[in-house]
Amino acid sequence: MQKIHRTAAKMALALGTMAFVVTSCQHEPPLVPFDPVGNGDGGGGGTAPCAPNTVYFQQQVLPLLVSNCAVPGCHNTATDDNDWIQITSYTSLMNSGIVGDGDLMEAITETDPDDIMPRPPQNPLTPQQIQLIQTWITQGYQNNSCSASCDTTNVTYSGTIVPLVQQRCQGCHSGGTPQGDLNFTNWATLNAVANDGRLRWAVTHDPQGVAMPPSSPIMPACEVRKFTLWIEAGAPNN
Ligand code: HEC
Repeated sequence: MQKIHRTAAKMALALGTMAFVVTSCQHEPPLVPFDPVGNGDGGGGGTAPCAPNTVYFQQQVLPLLVSNCAVPGCHNTATDDNDWIQITSYTSLMNSGIVGDGDLMEAITETDPDDIMPRPPQNPLTPQQIQLIQTWITQGYQNNSCSASCDTTNVTYSGTIVPLVQQRCQGCHSGGTPQGDLNFTNWATLNAVANDGRLRWAVTHDPQGVAMPPSSPIMPACEVRKFTLWIEAGAPNN
């Protein structure tokens, strides 16, 4: 009996959310169409050059959300346990109804360890990451995308790989229980998977390995290239 009530409540909630999304769309600028499969552009399909003061969902926000929220067993799929909140694409995020009503910002800025997202022992988002998401919301939370120029000269661990890993991998691969038992906040662990071949398989989505990041399109070609250049150079700590 209780179960039926819960399900009915969930359905009413889902319908309400859908109605909200539909009506709220009418007041927003048209959404930029995007390529859900991703042709090496992170799923963004962006052709306009990146403007300095705009936050882009596909290039900046989605990688962070995937890395920190789409952790297996958290928000990688929508289930009863996670209040039907899936965070793996613009569509799933919007269908979850947590952006427009402030729930997303509330969850990531919570101070109560029982309520904050991501949940401990995963690390909280950094103030810079929270600011980025806030700016994207303030700018109208569009599914926007841009194309940055790709500079693969002088790829180094500290200048190139660390920022990439922070943005795209560390949500899952750090903290108290890192996924795959791999903590990428230190060079040695990343160097080890670079040398045994698993890093290349992961970032190039080679079927011999496990595609990373999981449950999201392959990273933009430029970023994959940076990883492979660093691997080919012997994954140095430079
Ligand atoms: C949403 C969570 C998540 C994100 C983001 C993520 N990973 Fe993973 N990673 C996992 C999980 C889960 C495993 C364990 C998979 C398994 O063993 O089947 C794993 C395993 C791996 C492995 C080992 C694969 C193997 O063949 O044993 C590598 C290498 C790896 N990740 C690299 C990365 C890199 C590089 C990034 C960022 C570009 C990244 N991961 C982002 C969840 C994630």
